[in-house]
Amino acid sequence: MGARVPTVIWRPSSGPQKALLSCPVFEVFFGGARGGGKTDGMLGEWAQHAAQYGSHAIGLMVRRTRVELTETFERARVLFGPIGAQFTATPMRVVMPNGARLNFAYLERDADAQGYQGHSYTRVYVEEAGNFPSPAPILKLMATLRSGVGVPCRMRLTGNPGGPGHQWVRARYIDPHPQGMKVITDPETGLQRVYIPSRVTDNPHVGAEYVQRLKASGSPELVRAWLEGDWSVISGAFFPEFSMDRHVMAPRELPAHWYRFRSMDWGSARPFSVGWWAVSDGALPDIARGALVRYREWYGMQPGQPNVGLRLTSDEVAVGIKEREVGDMPKGKAMSGVADPAIFANQDGPSIAERMALHGVFFDRADNARVSQRGAMGGWDQLRQRLKGDAEGRPMLVVFNTCRDLIRTLPALQHDESRPEDVDTEGEDHAPDEARYACMSRPMTRTDPAAGIRRPDSYATQRPAGRGGWAA
Ligand SMILES: Nc1ncnc2c1ncn2[C@@H]1O[C@H](COP(=O)(O)OP(=O)(O)OP(=O)(O)O)[C@@H](O)[C@H]1O
Ligand SMILES: [Mg+2]
Repeated sequence: MGARVPTVIWRPSSGPQKALLSCPVFEVFFGGARGGGKTDGMLGEWAQHAAQYGSHAIGLMVRRTRVELTETFERARVLFGPIGAQFTATPMRVVMPNGARLNFAYLERDADAQGYQGHSYTRVYVEEAGNFPSPAPILKLMATLRSGVGVPCRMRLTGNPGGPGHQWVRARYIDPHPQGMKVITDPETGLQRVYIPSRVTDNPHVGAEYVQRLKASGSPELVRAWLEGDWSVISGAFFPEFSMDRHVMAPRELPAHWYRFRSMDWGSARPFSVGWWAVSDGALPDIARGALVRYREWYGMQPGQPNVGLRLTSDEVAVGIKEREVGDMPKGKAMSGVADPAIFANQDGPSIAERMALHGVFFDRADNARVSQRGAMGGWDQLRQRLKGDAEGRPMLVVFNTCRDLIRTLPALQHDESRPEDVDTEGEDHAPDEARYACMSRPMTRTDPAAGIRRPDSYATQRPAGRGGWAA
């Protein structure tokens, strides 16, 4: 006797998921917040479509990167495996028992959408549309929606605030009716679209723990945007966590055995910034073990002219660094450093890093990942975690009050309006950039907790293990 094949594999769990499955509008933007059941919603919609049209149902599931796509594919395996769907990895595809096919594709570059010209689909799903900097590739895919046998063709997208596509997503789907559930008719094409909002509170399958993890990354404003689906311009400081009371201290003698290193952001017409750091091993009672202490900085700015550089040569900066470091290191030991990857570029001659090395000033290439991506915490969140502190709330980054330019510029940083999880680079960001490199060289947490990583090895494929850890 053969095992009974289950016929009901998934049920829409909430108002919004139900609305998604019954929505007749051509184009739907679903979600708008984190954890609202978007991915499951897309796959559930596909299951319903597949059941109705069988082998005439041909779908395309799109995400920006391969890592993201794999996540959706794995969820499809969990949902559709038990009913006998067949999966192939190359090309990434699910074939349902009745012949309905769902192809998976990632479009890392906008031009990749070109490859789909001429295809025909009855469903196109775009997961996390906000990860696409421009709508161009998505609009191109819209042209593939057609069926020779009259199957109704639809486009379904998801997303949440943030990401490089924040502004276009907001303008296209949210702004016309921020509360959603009202059909928008495109003034140019006459096509209809609608925003179906779904928040984490609409999803009974996630607990408080997910929300806690979300709160661990992103500024409080961004977290609020994720939770509430608030797409309004994120105003206010990027690092509200920073405070003079908690993070700034008078200069003092630091134990000579503490590990020291420097971080640098190069600049000529704009200021360069060099920060010197000591790593606490807990020897001083009021500085947490593992904390970074910024004990000196050198900011290459024209006196009294914020964001105007000194235009020194790399040799002059190297000599200046050497002079300032006298006595920092045990005799005969060179200090290590991290610097923005740009200084390693050769253009008709030695790179800035090579010129500095001739003076005995050495740098490693800093990890320049600014923003957390699924699975890996970016530099801004590393810095934020350190400002927030350890489990007892003790700051993991403190600054001598002589480091005036970090203290001046860090709290002044603003969110980038079109990509709220990043800093507005129009601001004076050189000292924070270099502090970010320092934090990335000694990561506090290796994974982005909000991403809820299920495959620990996916991290290793993205980035080689750094120096890491707490050891001084
Ligand atoms: N109808 C459902 N039945 C069973 N589980 C569900 C359902 N909807 C959502 N879930 C579960 O809830 C969790 C979150 O849902 P999902 O991953 O779809 O949310 P999301 O909006 O895509 O989240 P993120 O913003 O993190 O991508 C997942 O574990 C998912 O399997
Ligand atoms: Mg998802």
